[in-house]
Amino acid sequence: MQRDGDRPIERAAVLIRDARKLVLITGAGMSVDSGVKDFRSRSGWWRSIDPRTVATVEALEHRYDLFHEFYAERIRQLRTVVPHAGHFILAEWEQQGKLARICTQNVDRLHQLGGSRNVEELHGTIRTFRCHACGAPHEEEAFLRKAACPCGGRLRPNVVLFGEPLPAEAWETSLEAIREADVVLVIGTSLEVAPVNRLPFLTKAQRIFINAEETGLEDRFDVFVKGRARDSLIAIDQRLQRPGN
Ligand code: APR
Repeated sequence: MQRDGDRPIERAAVLIRDARKLVLITGAGMSVDSGVKDFRSRSGWWRSIDPRTVATVEALEHRYDLFHEFYAERIRQLRTVVPHAGHFILAEWEQQGKLARICTQNVDRLHQLGGSRNVEELHGTIRTFRCHACGAPHEEEAFLRKAACPCGGRLRPNVVLFGEPLPAEAWETSLEAIREADVVLVIGTSLEVAPVNRLPFLTKAQRIFINAEETGLEDRFDVFVKGRARDSLIAIDQRLQRPGN
């Protein structure tokens, strides 16, 4: 529980500095500082469309034009998006052996583009594509021009749609990492979507939450930093760099 008046950035930096195994969980808020809209905050996707009505197998099979439009727009947007300083800091922490694994809900691959290698994509990705009927891999360009698979099936991103199971290996690897962690850092998620929203609490680790807004779950964390992912990671990293820290 956070004591009043403590400086959360300092407390987070101490926990991260002393962590034997630090594991990170990220959501859409981690990508907002790169210009990617999140879902549920005021500027998110949900202001214009409810992803639960579009990011579904039902939409893919019965309202393909709407399904295709939702993903085509997000895929095109990613062409102008690059990782921010926070992504590069996390890759540094992995290089230094400080950060063991990233378990992300994000589908934009910005963690990997920022240099992180141990990344579990719990909700898949919109960077690669397949035929929904036969599973054959296809290129982004084919999806964007609404090509059909030679088998006749429709093309889709390799994203986990609502109602679909999470990739078993990514989930198992994330669960194991979380259980073995002594510090879990959660960044930029409303923690509204199961089962990822259970992950931070399936461990005895100390928990740090960095988020732009309160979500009502702050009291379940040892430290809550109310702030932007990029700025908060820069501030924490600066304290880790200080000699004698
Ligand atoms: N820095 C830190 N946090 C931020 C920032 C930022 N720059 N910008 C927004 N946030 C916070 C918002 O306040 C919000 O609480 O990030 C959180 C993002 O929450 P959501 O939009 O719900 O995104 P996420 O939690 O990743 O959604 C989970 O829902 O629609 C599905 O599959 C989709 O993976 C997604 C899942």
